[in-house]
Amino acid sequence: MLKKTSFHIVFISLMLINIVQAQIVNEIKVIINKRINPVPPSMWGIFFEDINFAADGGIYAELIKNRSFSFNDPMMGWKWIKMKNGDGEGRLYNSGDISQLNKRFVRIQSTKDKGAFGLSNEGFRGIGLKKDAEYRLSLTARNNNSNNSTNLFIELLDTTGLVLAENMITGITKDWKQYEIILKPSITYAHARLNVLVKSKDAVEIQTVSLFPVDTWKKRKNGLRSDLVQLLADIKPGFVRFPGGCIVEGRELANRYQWKKTVGETAERELIINRWNTEFKHRPAPDYFQSFGLGFYEYFLLAEDIGAEPLPILNCGMACQYNTGELISLEHLEPYIQDALDLIEFANGSTSSKWGKLRATMGHPKPFNLKMMGIGNEQWGSQYIERFKLFSSILKTKHPEIKLITSAGPGPDGERFTYLWDELVKLNADFVDEHYYQPPAWFLKNAGRYDSYPRSGPKVFAGEYAAHSKGNTDPTSRNNWESALAEAAFMTGLERNCDVVQMCSYAPLLAHKDAWQWNPDLIWFDNLRAVPTPNYFVQKLFSSNKGTYTIPILKDNSVITGKDSIYASATIDEITKDLILKLVNVSQRAIQHKFSFTGGSFKSQIADMEVLKNADVTAFNSFSNPESLYIEIQKIKVTGRSLMLTIDGNSVNVLRIKLQ
Ligand code: AHR
Repeated sequence: MLKKTSFHIVFISLMLINIVQAQIVNEIKVIINKRINPVPPSMWGIFFEDINFAADGGIYAELIKNRSFSFNDPMMGWKWIKMKNGDGEGRLYNSGDISQLNKRFVRIQSTKDKGAFGLSNEGFRGIGLKKDAEYRLSLTARNNNSNNSTNLFIELLDTTGLVLAENMITGITKDWKQYEIILKPSITYAHARLNVLVKSKDAVEIQTVSLFPVDTWKKRKNGLRSDLVQLLADIKPGFVRFPGGCIVEGRELANRYQWKKTVGETAERELIINRWNTEFKHRPAPDYFQSFGLGFYEYFLLAEDIGAEPLPILNCGMACQYNTGELISLEHLEPYIQDALDLIEFANGSTSSKWGKLRATMGHPKPFNLKMMGIGNEQWGSQYIERFKLFSSILKTKHPEIKLITSAGPGPDGERFTYLWDELVKLNADFVDEHYYQPPAWFLKNAGRYDSYPRSGPKVFAGEYAAHSKGNTDPTSRNNWESALAEAAFMTGLERNCDVVQMCSYAPLLAHKDAWQWNPDLIWFDNLRAVPTPNYFVQKLFSSNKGTYTIPILKDNSVITGKDSIYASATIDEITKDLILKLVNVSQRAIQHKFSFTGGSFKSQIADMEVLKNADVTAFNSFSNPESLYIEIQKIKVTGRSLMLTIDGNSVNVLRIKLQ
């Protein structure tokens, strides 16, 4: 979708200033050779949280829900079925073996010579299948009742019962063993089911049933959904913040994210309830769990794959303050700090160290080159500062090379915010993570927020932001153009102040169309498709055009933060030798500008201007109309040291001019 073939190519003639002088109302000056701030390579990143079925049911490509019968309700997602006058008995067992993490298995006992009896899985809001693609089913089974071998019949079906793919597992014997077969659907279908059947009088016991597309990201077996990872890679993010968000904190401490339980063999990772399961009463998802098939190793790998710095966030001994706010007493905080130390060893340690060895065993002997980590998510109050101090004193002594991200709480101002900032300045924190989910008008008003921030002291990580036209759980809330435009306007201020704000990420990242809890989100997907929002394209425009230095772009000798509805920032890219202008017009009307350039020159050329625009600010990209907003390329003829440029109404524009 991003490589749209039908680019609208528009040639805009640029006239000599003196010809049109009389019509000029706006003049913008760009000083090419005045470098202000280096743009940090990790400036524009992404924030991954397992919310809205982002991991299980989303980017983690497993298609079977509750694959090991380990949900609180062991049969959730499954049902017993009889086919063609078959009959039988289904039982759920517990092995009682305390050495096993998952002790549950089911017994499928078919009691008739005809027909079939077995289990059916509904997938995550259905199973998405693509015609002729290959799907690998793996299943742990035994027959446990005879010396003969038994067969299992596997089917993928549509909702009417039509079989779309079938295959058979033969020779199941009495010891537990893993079997694999390939299924190839005859059509593309978004809401299939999987049947596991025993025919004739016989019995099979099964433990784990798993189905993955063979074609995953980088073709890794049982890996990630390639279309979704590709969209993330296309942003060219500078970092990946993971695994959240409130999910780090847990509703209570027992439910917090514990990275050590998410590494090693997938089957050894203990499933827990996802904290977003029933968080919002009117958006309940009782079937939302974390299998940790996407665990910390996979997050590090994902970051590496897409050229981003890994930024893990760790629990700091506090559960979510919107829920229980449960605290670990200070004298018992040590294991939490040890988790942080061990994580550094897992990411960077030698392969002879305990955790470095695990990383190597998992397939990555080379270090992941971890440079930073977050201590807590959006905590607040003195309880946070007390805990951070203990983390910091040990981490800074043992690992001064690791930058620590601290919290400014859930809002962009107010008492909590001011208290935290004051304390964190005193503690000489590296980064303070600010979060703002605010109306579009707030973003416009705050485009100059960081122009007056102190230039010394902690740097800012704008770790979660999004313009919300409506509340985040309102089903009619949309990633509309108004919200994306406001974010783009605000982001010109982030870029201009990249000496202070050194990392930024929109939040949340992913949302399943039929299983979301929080809205808006950067990328929407269903079982087969993904729809990038206008907000996604804004992120992509900024990140893929960041440049290496900011330079002045001025109107009336001032930075451009909304006067005449225009917002602007400018950088140069010293590697590609480009001048990059980001121009946002949040008014309905097109506005003509005269740009004058000093301190550098360029040849006459046809420059590319990437444009996102729509006169209708309520427009959004939907599954039925996914391209209401997408990036068009306009060709701009540039001659001399000035140009006349019309900035369309409700538009975001990135103009790249080759410098000499
Ligand atoms: O992004 C959704 C949630 O918003 C995050 O989990 C949390 O940090 C914030 O409150």
